[in-house]
Amino acid sequence: MAWFLSNLRYVAWTALAVGALFLIYFAMGVAGYAFGDAGFWEALWRWTHVLSGIMWIGHLYYFNFTQIPNMPKIPDEQKPAIGKVIAPAALFWFRWGAMATLITGLALAGNQGYLVQALTLGGADDPSFAVPKHILIGIGMWLAIAMWFNVWFIIWPNQQKALNINNKYPDLDAAAKAAAGKTAMLFSRTNTFLSVPMLVAMTGASTLF
Ligand code: HEM
Repeated sequence: MAWFLSNLRYVAWTALAVGALFLIYFAMGVAGYAFGDAGFWEALWRWTHVLSGIMWIGHLYYFNFTQIPNMPKIPDEQKPAIGKVIAPAALFWFRWGAMATLITGLALAGNQGYLVQALTLGGADDPSFAVPKHILIGIGMWLAIAMWFNVWFIIWPNQQKALNINNKYPDLDAAAKAAAGKTAMLFSRTNTFLSVPMLVAMTGASTLF
């Protein structure tokens, strides 16, 4: 068993395959959905959405609750292990997790036929603002879209500067690197804050209404 568990690729791909079979069995075999049914796709998009959301927000919480608070305790000569190895790898899963969460979230809303209604916070409903579920999930979607924007257009570019990832900014001076690192940290903290009410909307939309 150790030969299997020691190889992350084996574990990750097998887990995805088992998850997919599990979903197909319950969606088609037990619930009776056909491949083309919206119910089957809703189950698929919900699963992949929450999975990628965990990948994204898991890394966000790692940065904010583990890495950033403990950096001052690490001796300077050991800091490159985090800055050059761990953080770039974590940023890879963080930003692509955010992208997958956005795509699957939009697909989930589209599949349920309320994408426009939610993005207009219920304004596109007839009569307008009459469906609380659309207002609540719409608020959650906009909070999460703002967080996604912060990841891709503020945190990631600033981290590239601060850590000189892929040697993209070899000539940046220490002050500019520190400023970029500070900006990335502040927006990462903002996302940590927003993640809490955002999740109320995500989880509440299907349970409260
Ligand atoms: C990036 C933009 C996002 C969009 C467009 C989006 C969209 C959606 C939609 C449409 C739903 C279905 C609500 C319903 O009808 O029940 C949903 C549910 C959910 N989302 Fe998101 N979401 C986003 C980000 C996130 C993030 C970052 C997380 C973090 C983990 C997350 C976690 C969840 C959870 C846990 C559910 C509930 C699933 C369920 O109850 O079955 N979402 N999201």
